[in-house]
Amino acid sequence: MAQTFLLLLICQLSLYTLVTPMKVCGRPSVQPNVEDEEFMRVYEAGQEVILSCKRGYTPTAGSRKIICGGSGSWSRSTLQCSRKSCPFIGPLLNGEIHIADIVYQSTINYTCNHGYILHGANTSECLHDATWSNPLPFCDPVICGLPEVPKYGTITYSRKFEGKTTLYGDSVTYNCPPPLVVFGNEIGFCTASGKWTETPECRVVTCPPPTGIANGFMPFAVIREHGYKDRVRYGCDINYVLVGTAEAECLKTGNWSSKPVCRAPCTVGIDRGRIFYNGKKIWIKELKPNRILHSELLEVYCQNTEKDCGYPVATQCIDGTLKIPKCFKEPSAFTYNFQSSSLPSEIEMC
Ligand SMILES: *[C@@H]1O[C@H](CO)[C@@H](O)[C@H](O)[C@H]1NC(C)=O
Ligand SMILES: *[C@@H]1O[C@H](CO)[C@@H](O)[C@H](O)[C@H]1NC(C)=O
Ligand SMILES: *[C@@H]1O[C@H](CO)[C@@H](O)[C@H](O)[C@H]1NC(C)=O
Repeated sequence: MAQTFLLLLICQLSLYTLVTPMKVCGRPSVQPNVEDEEFMRVYEAGQEVILSCKRGYTPTAGSRKIICGGSGSWSRSTLQCSRKSCPFIGPLLNGEIHIADIVYQSTINYTCNHGYILHGANTSECLHDATWSNPLPFCDPVICGLPEVPKYGTITYSRKFEGKTTLYGDSVTYNCPPPLVVFGNEIGFCTASGKWTETPECRVVTCPPPTGIANGFMPFAVIREHGYKDRVRYGCDINYVLVGTAEAECLKTGNWSSKPVCRAPCTVGIDRGRIFYNGKKIWIKELKPNRILHSELLEVYCQNTEKDCGYPVATQCIDGTLKIPKCFKEPSAFTYNFQSSSLPSEIEMC
């Protein structure tokens, strides 16, 4: 037991005397992104190491040299390395460059505006040698062929064309000789898909004979088929009010534009009472004939029983219907004839 212990002690002592006089340094520890792959495991005192940055990185601060000191430790490593920057690139005509950063390993993307096609790579990466992996691409306009000419028709170009191609955004106007009518798009475009908008047709347009309207008439109309842009005029019977446009037009579609309508007058459903109509306060008997026109307003008088005062309430004639407000109370013949000063229209107004 004692012998084994002694042996261990001797071993340790001999190891100690073997290592201590040499004073070596281990692998140096350095800042991030400093090249450390070539480091040796052991360095002798006094040995120097020149540090460098990893691929794609460049020194930005600190000194590159470290020394293994006599005490077996390294001088402090201060070298700092940052990503290299690629040069600014652009502008991209008729397109956009999407940039988040321009340092080593970052990528930028290219897109072209609507109607333009990208030729080249749509992305580029900043490489370790501070150059872009791909050159700037081009955005070229979309190309269309020549627009088709409608049968019987002609086209007018928006600019002088040469050759057999047109560009995105180019336009033409279609024409048809009268009485033919352009049926479809009157103006055509070279679209972003490289195709022209649909070619219209030259058509003969006829609208069916015009039809009448309720409570109205067509003063001069000839009841026959009509051509494009022909018009017919409508009128309303007496006391009817015309709503809409008085004229209908024969449209390209072969349909008439919408016809007007004639709205009916109203009778005021009151036998005894006073109304406010046309800026005047009159007894209902004085309204001769008993009729107001569509959309006209009148007021009847109601009574506030709590405050014992009268107040006017408005109502409107809507196509033959005039609603008498609920608060209006028709007086008895006796009250109307002998006590008319007590009616809501005659007492003090609220
Ligand atoms: C570029 O495109 C890629 C893939 O579409 C996307 O992940 C990245 O965020 C884009 N970069 C920028 C700067 O727009
Ligand atoms: C780049 O083009 C490829 C196809 O070539 C496509 O899949 C990708 O989405 C495009 N990236 C960008 C950012 O437009
Ligand atoms: C024209 O009239 C027809 C039949 O009355 C109808 O089906 C069509 O939708 C109308 N066209 C237009 C553009 O109003």
